[in-house]
Amino acid sequence: MKKTLLFLATTALIFASNGAELMEKNCASCHMLTTPKFHQLPDLKAPAMDAVVFHINLAMKEKQKKIDFIMDYTQNPDASKSVCESNKVAQFGVMPSIKGKVSTSDLEKIAEFMLLNYPTKPFVSMITEMQNNDKMNALKHSPFLINSTRLPHMTKLLIQNWDKAALGLSKEQKEKLLLVRNETLSKIKKIKNELKMLEVEVSEAMIDREDPKSLEKQLDEISKLKLEATKVHLKCIADTTSILSEEQVAYLLPFWE
Ligand code: HEC
Repeated sequence: MKKTLLFLATTALIFASNGAELMEKNCASCHMLTTPKFHQLPDLKAPAMDAVVFHINLAMKEKQKKIDFIMDYTQNPDASKSVCESNKVAQFGVMPSIKGKVSTSDLEKIAEFMLLNYPTKPFVSMITEMQNNDKMNALKHSPFLINSTRLPHMTKLLIQNWDKAALGLSKEQKEKLLLVRNETLSKIKKIKNELKMLEVEVSEAMIDREDPKSLEKQLDEISKLKLEATKVHLKCIADTTSILSEEQVAYLLPFWE
């Protein structure tokens, strides 16, 4: 009994150190293997290993599927298969294939090791905090009257899933969607700029102890602009979903949050 346990412990150790070494040798030149610090994120050549496994875990549940995915992606990388956000993949450039450079049995050891050791707790805390900050910031600078998380921001969702085979956007759909995106973004940008100036005017007037009655014109204008932005947002959702099939909308649905 003791012997078996010892044997198991030693093989597990050999297995683990093997995976770590293989990963260090074959992946570390691009993927950071330690937890990235917030300030390091903009300088990374590729997503940190923490981020890679974090996204794999979001996209699939079964361990074997995850292993198969890692084995396939590293040998036949393609933006359409990626579990990361399409805009991030475009930013980094698709991973070069390591086919022929790493044996499949070594790759399997790497995959096992990855799933066992990533994502690290500090990374998960950091990413959760970043996501919460993003949500708070979006809310702080929102020009919309309705900020329910149930109301999706289609342009953002689409950009994150743009190249994915699972969404399957056709070239024609992409062209139409880009038109909707550009129109929406330019209108919202204009409204946001106008709102910002009006808000500065109002807050400065209040600091100067002016009578709120003198600000009615500005307040009217602010409410009109927010109404307009909300209409643009709703129209964007309607226009976008009319270009997508029901299956495509259903695919995006779980990302609405
Ligand atoms: C020459 C640089 C480079 C090397 C070496 C490299 N990668 Fe990558 N990898 C990237 C880049 C860039 C991305 C992000 C773009 C993408 O997803 O294709 C990426 C993404 C990935 C992804 C995420 C796929 C997704 O869903 O987008 C996995 C999994 C991955 N790498 C595994 C590995 C493993 C395992 C190794 C080592 C055996 C490795 N990579 C070595 C550059 C590299």
